Amino acid sequence: MKTEVTRLDPPARPEAEEQERIIIHGGKPLNGSVQISGAKNAVLKMMAAALLTKGVSVLRNVPNLTDVQMMGDVIAHLGAKVTVKNNEVIIDSTKVEEVEAPYELVSQLRASFVVLGPLLARFGQAKVSLPGGCAIGERRIDLHERGLKLLGAEVKIEHGYVYANAAKLVGSRIYLDRPSNGATENIMMAAVLAEGQTIIENAAQDPEIVNLADFINAMGGKIHGAGTYQMTIDGVKPSKLHGATFDTIPDRLEAGSFMLAVMATTGNITVTGVNPHHLYSLISKMTEMGAEVSIYAPDTLKVKISGKPLATDITTLPYPAFPTDLQSPVMAILAASEGTSIITETIYENRFMQAGELRRMGADVALKGNVAVIKGVPQLTGAEVKSSDLRAGAALIIAGLGAQGITEVSGLRHIDRGYENIVEKFTGLGAEIFRR
Ligand code: EPU
Repeated sequence: MKTEVTRLDPPARPEAEEQERIIIHGGKPLNGSVQISGAKNAVLKMMAAALLTKGVSVLRNVPNLTDVQMMGDVIAHLGAKVTVKNNEVIIDSTKVEEVEAPYELVSQLRASFVVLGPLLARFGQAKVSLPGGCAIGERRIDLHERGLKLLGAEVKIEHGYVYANAAKLVGSRIYLDRPSNGATENIMMAAVLAEGQTIIENAAQDPEIVNLADFINAMGGKIHGAGTYQMTIDGVKPSKLHGATFDTIPDRLEAGSFMLAVMATTGNITVTGVNPHHLYSLISKMTEMGAEVSIYAPDTLKVKISGKPLATDITTLPYPAFPTDLQSPVMAILAASEGTSIITETIYENRFMQAGELRRMGADVALKGNVAVIKGVPQLTGAEVKSSDLRAGAALIIAGLGAQGITEVSGLRHIDRGYENIVEKFTGLGAEIFRR
């Protein structure tokens, strides 16, 4: 089958990526304004949702990230025509016929596992590779599996693949043991074309889920209650769905990373293109830590800090509580704060990978299970450090911005998955940072 993906940039060669570094000369206060990109974790799922129907969908405010390119590769493999240009992705899903997402593609991007729900809904069958291991945790799919079975699908895992089949899907009441984003998305997308009503209890309430549900509704779906613990999906006939043009919400995790970065080095920045409602848990914690955060306009926040940050305790929990994805960046700040902080990570089993690297920069972090005790030191010192995952990478850059001397961050392929133009954006705020 002929597929086409227009890339923004050719992908870097793996060996070149491994040698690349972000170099930071620490200690420069951050001042000025930064524009936040569209949310990676929303756009990837909307790209999968476009598979639900024959038609052309246009997603706007799409960040230029390797994850977006890889999701484009996955849906192009399935037969979609994908064009990426000027922060837009155009997806023509008319000729989608393939129902198998192979290991080579899914293992590159675990988020692509969410093609399972739309393929099952549209074709009554799907074969999607299990994504495999992950640096930050176990990342099981039992809730996806159970939910799809409750909709009437036969689901089995064999030879590393999930096989799902259903002559027809029928709406059901599905309780999730935990509000998993991926399970909520896969079940919601499968239920869009099921017969009758599906209710997801204890659904994930993240803004990215709301963005996805709104997009599907713009395509002709009938989803209510997205953003609350109980979502209702009234199944529609395939003929009622069509392509849609839709805006991606701002990336609250990118925004949060820049907001925290000011606390590493003092400064006064304006963060534009954000939705402050998505960031209350962070704003509250940053205020406790001594920052002044104000909502300047409906899409603009101002962040200011003039002294050393104060210690605080943080527990990561599903949205709207403090996000696990900002746990690594906030640890970078607490590492050089006044006092001792405790972070409890409840989402992933292994998301303290940044701690060892921060120790190389002089941080005093002790780990016991899912708890980190961080004794603030007067100042971090620059070092060569390696990013093990996307958010750990952001944490190391943030630590480097506040550290005395030079920090060299490697493992940039992780950072490029989720932060668009991160070096240029920090340079625009006055940081001394470059890529080599
Ligand atoms: N879980 C299960 N069973 C399941 C599904 C999940 O036990 O069937 C567990 C996972 O093992 C994990 C927890 O539930 O410990 C949360 O998993 P969830 O399904 O909510 O996460 P996800 O959908 O795989 C998305 C984001 C992650 C973000 C998490 C939590 C995308 C592409 N990824 O992952 O983002 O950390 O939700 O908010 O949307 C990132 O952007 O760096 C990132 C890792």
